[in-house]
Amino acid sequence: MNIGSTLYRKTMTAVTGNRAVKRLTLRFGRRLAGRFVASDHLQGALREVAALNRQGIMATLDALGEGIGSTDEALAYRDEYLKLLDAIADSGVRANVSLKPTQMGLALDADACFRNIRDIVARAREYGNFVRIDMENSPYTQATIDMTVRLHREGLTNVGTVLQAYLKRTEGDARDLMGAGVSLRLVKGAYREPAAIAFQHKSEIVASFKRIVQLHLDRGIYTAVASHDDAIISWVKDYTLHHGIPKERFEFQMLYGLRMSEQARLAREGYRVRCYVPYGTMWYPYYTRRLAEKPGNLWLVVRHMLR
Ligand code: FDA
Repeated sequence: MNIGSTLYRKTMTAVTGNRAVKRLTLRFGRRLAGRFVASDHLQGALREVAALNRQGIMATLDALGEGIGSTDEALAYRDEYLKLLDAIADSGVRANVSLKPTQMGLALDADACFRNIRDIVARAREYGNFVRIDMENSPYTQATIDMTVRLHREGLTNVGTVLQAYLKRTEGDARDLMGAGVSLRLVKGAYREPAAIAFQHKSEIVASFKRIVQLHLDRGIYTAVASHDDAIISWVKDYTLHHGIPKERFEFQMLYGLRMSEQARLAREGYRVRCYVPYGTMWYPYYTRRLAEKPGNLWLVVRHMLR
């Protein structure tokens, strides 16, 4: 992220928060969002996952939804995830699940949110499956970490969370979570965060990313490296090769619709690769974060609207 891309991301986040822009995007955007969203429904998403599995790529399924308005909505999402875990087991696809804390009600009732997530993690454990709690913006960082650690202390160890390399606190969090035995997905970070708490320059974020991956790999902790960035991917390949770290000890993760041929290529090279596969109709916030990450995506939208 240089100054230009930081400015682009800030502008996009502000613009896509505007109600008129949201109405317009919802009218035009579904077909464009299709590049990033596997399907409107669970069965369609499972078919996409089966196709990925045939290429040697695993998946993590995300039933899209976040920032919900009532605890009843959170319960409905909990039920969707229980159904999703049953469907993964029935279909035999190689996939785990990712969910968002605010989708489970974190902004409304933290205890209810914890109970919802615990129900999902418990169901996943019955199937020998795993739940990844995505990391949202900084007001939720500590609560997300606390919930994950609490689940581990209660004996539910088939759950992990995500840390964002752009947050200055992350190296400390990574050490703490390592101590608690929590597996991590590491990302750069997708939200707009102030300079007081977050690195703003790409070089600082990449350096932080590498430090944390190295810390985990050196300690023998299974690490999910979630990035499309060639600089990070080749660094991880080199580092693991030169330090004798086997390919079974880490995985690359990328988003559905991005660098799909690179995902297949890594899988053919024998790396563990997992694709993040979102589905459902609540795609707007997810989609606008993808737009904010890359100016080229915005030009695709504008071209489509002008056609
Ligand atoms: P970077 O942004 O530097 O891009 C490198 C290259 O990748 C680009 O040049 C382009 O080719 C391609 N690319 C990247 N983004 C693109 C886009 N939107 N459209 C088109 N091409 C693109 N964040 C978060 O805050 N909390 C979370 O829980 C998660 N979870 C998560 C899971 C997985 C599996 C991934 C891959 C990412 C996340 N993220 C996330 C998002 C993450 O924080 C980050 O915003 C994006 O991955 C973009 O950063 P990169 O490291 O991929 O590279």
